[in-house]
Amino acid sequence: MSLLLAISGWHVEDWRARFAALLPDLPIVALGEPFDRRAVHYVASWKHPEGSLSGLPNLAAIFSLGAGVDHLFADSRLPQVPIARVVDPDLTARMSEYIVMHCLMQLRQQRRYERQQREKRWDDDRHQPAAREIRVGIMGLGELGLDAARKLSLLGFDVAGWSRSAKTVEELETFAGEDGLPAFLARTDILVVLLPLTPDTRGIVNRSLLAGLARDGRLGGPALINAGRGGLQVEADILASLEAGELREAVLDVFETEPLPADSPLWTHPAVTVTPHNAAMSAPETVADQIAAQIRRLEAGEPLQNLVDPTRGY
Ligand code: NDP
Ligand code: OXD
Repeated sequence: MSLLLAISGWHVEDWRARFAALLPDLPIVALGEPFDRRAVHYVASWKHPEGSLSGLPNLAAIFSLGAGVDHLFADSRLPQVPIARVVDPDLTARMSEYIVMHCLMQLRQQRRYERQQREKRWDDDRHQPAAREIRVGIMGLGELGLDAARKLSLLGFDVAGWSRSAKTVEELETFAGEDGLPAFLARTDILVVLLPLTPDTRGIVNRSLLAGLARDGRLGGPALINAGRGGLQVEADILASLEAGELREAVLDVFETEPLPADSPLWTHPAVTVTPHNAAMSAPETVADQIAAQIRRLEAGEPLQNLVDPTRGY
């Protein structure tokens, strides 16, 4: 019985070392090296190459090394075994840090003061809004969206959330489904996108959605923060919305193509912040622990946690 590491773009050896320490009796193998395909019972994947998981006759479960699982469903030959994703307090905390920081940067106009400093300009603004006057709208009220919502609420922001199914969350205004979307957007000054990428959500952040955001807020126009997935956004539409003044600023951690191509106008746009898809990294120190616990659970005959529903795609 072995665990197959099927990882591209991340350092396999960091994961191997952590898993080996946690599961000393389980042989760990990796794609690209010779291994017995019949011995593989578990796979830990991040963006494995298409088809590389077929022909594993004794596979019992696939573990995503990230919270998102769109990378798994991108493989048309994905084996039909249970899939569990990462739910990790460390990863959740990192995402909330990112969202809170960028909401505060919007509130406190940080980009403006950086510009002023470069120009040695002392332009004192006495009319700064309070957090309670800024309406943050979070698309996706799952593990990440809910934690960010709670932390932003603690800072005083006026937070609402939008999800697929209706929810009641203490001290949070909630909206659901297509019917709830227009009202949710119309009360949103800072739109935070923490949705999974599925057939239903692909391209959802487009010109018409952005045009629905509030235009009467204290920040002088709406801002977008997308740390979900690049496939959720239509980048040409974001640029067009910025040019048309329908969007004031965009903070993007994820892109249609990653790494972001050198010729993308997003790199140099004065109203765009680019970060390299690391809002919430999966750290082997904590994520491998979660997966090792899941493997021990299976070995003890207990059910897997954090199962993904393949029909919903998340
Ligand atoms: P969850 O599965 O816990 O939550 C997903 C949320 O999205 C749920 O509230 C769900 O609604 C909602 N949702 C899904 N489909 C729709 C839809 N069609 N319409 C409306 N709402 C919808 O995911 P997480 O919070 O753990 O993670 C969210 C995403 O964040 C990941 O899928 C990944 O893409 C991204 N991510 C990005 C990282 C980065 O570094 N940039 C790091 C980690 C994750 P409901 O509650 O009704 O089911
Ligand atoms: C994830 C990611 O899904 O890092 O965890 O994007």
